[in-house]
Amino acid sequence: MIGAENRSPRRSKVANLSRSSHDAPSPLKAFRSGPLKGRARPPGDKSISHRAFIFGLLTVGATEISGLLEGDDVLRTGAACQALGGRLERLGEGRWRVNGLGVGAILSPEETLDFGNAGTGARLMMGVIGGHGIEARFDGDASLRKRPMRRILDPLTLMGAEILSEADGGRCPIVIRGTSEPAPIVYRTPVASAQIKSAVLLAGLNAPGETTVIESEASRDHTEKMLAHFGAEVQVAAEGENGRKITLKGRPELRPAPVIVPADPSSAAFPIVGALISPDSDIVVEGVMMNPLRTGLITTLLEMGGRIDALDRRIEGGEEVADLRVRASSLRGVDVPAGRAPSMIDEYPILAVAAAFAEGETRMRGLHELRVKESDRLAAVAAGLAAAGVSHAIEGDDLIVQGRGEAPGGGLVETHLDHRIAMSFLIMGLASRQPMAIDDSRMIATSFPSFRPIMESLGAQFG
Ligand code: S3P
Repeated sequence: MIGAENRSPRRSKVANLSRSSHDAPSPLKAFRSGPLKGRARPPGDKSISHRAFIFGLLTVGATEISGLLEGDDVLRTGAACQALGGRLERLGEGRWRVNGLGVGAILSPEETLDFGNAGTGARLMMGVIGGHGIEARFDGDASLRKRPMRRILDPLTLMGAEILSEADGGRCPIVIRGTSEPAPIVYRTPVASAQIKSAVLLAGLNAPGETTVIESEASRDHTEKMLAHFGAEVQVAAEGENGRKITLKGRPELRPAPVIVPADPSSAAFPIVGALISPDSDIVVEGVMMNPLRTGLITTLLEMGGRIDALDRRIEGGEEVADLRVRASSLRGVDVPAGRAPSMIDEYPILAVAAAFAEGETRMRGLHELRVKESDRLAAVAAGLAAAGVSHAIEGDDLIVQGRGEAPGGGLVETHLDHRIAMSFLIMGLASRQPMAIDDSRMIATSFPSFRPIMESLGAQFG
């Protein structure tokens, strides 16, 4: 008790925001359910939610956020923002106010920044710390500790940050001492990654000059859009056939700007595929962000013959959104080009499920980045398909699924602390002949805490 009273306000607020995930695994089963019917709105976009907290921290004054994803990953980022001196208030469901300190004014955290399962939060915040004259220790759960951070540490080192300690070739726990004078650099990202791009741009916010990131394949553009929204000078130009060049003028005076978070297309993917593969389904998934750098799955499902209609296309919070009507469909196998991967990088596990219910072969090309997500998703998807009795193969970086219009099911899937593996195979169980079980459903709370009630409201049966 005495210890608790003596804690500084920054420290105790962190404890309040972060949730513990140390309880026991929570297995779950999905049963063949009737048709899915009704309307549902998935939670706010995870990428934008992380960034909303971070931009709030880096802006002097009050940033109001609505529609925020209140998942564990985002709350970890919120806790980190508080540890750096931001003040976060929850005003209501999904409604938050962040009182920030501004670029150049954030403080060294007193404790380790524990990002739990959140790779995006950790990597973006490494960029923030790297560009400030402060020091922080980054850590997370067993999944985060396996993820490669060298891709972030390398450009930050070029900008002048020091890596004081790291585990196992650039893995967490990592201690970074940032620099108050980050060098403005021109950086070409080695892989199409919005996280690398964003870390460099966030470090570049405090650089006395222009920071440029060049990507040979365009990745999600939420950071550049939000930089502009908060008043920074940022230019985006085409680079080569599919790439982009983003140039940011450092040391802007960011101005508070309201953030309205649209529904996450990566979470919408689960009810969408659930409805496509469950006979006689007819649902509407509301308010889904249709940013073209995020809609690769919709493009692919349409090519497969999915009956998906975008209704009431409109602009919300600077992003195009639509209500998606989805009806059960006879799907056919397709060839998914590698160039589409950045626009659907998180959606391959659920696409593999759709592919199992299609007729014919689906080949998904160029999936090397899947090996370094919350789990080795290529291996985890293959193991899940095997557990469900679905023929498949991995050839190099390609995943090939032999669709038979149905799946036997009846297996137990190891989720490896990966929320998208968990949700994908539960969705499979809604339409496979035998139920599908997963070893642990806890991680679903990182990105889609309302997954179970939302799916149940549409008719899904879990137990
Ligand atoms: C994200 C970028 C992607 C994605 C992740 C969220 C982001 O990662 O997989 O879930 O918000 O910037 P990469 O940048 O590593 O591809």
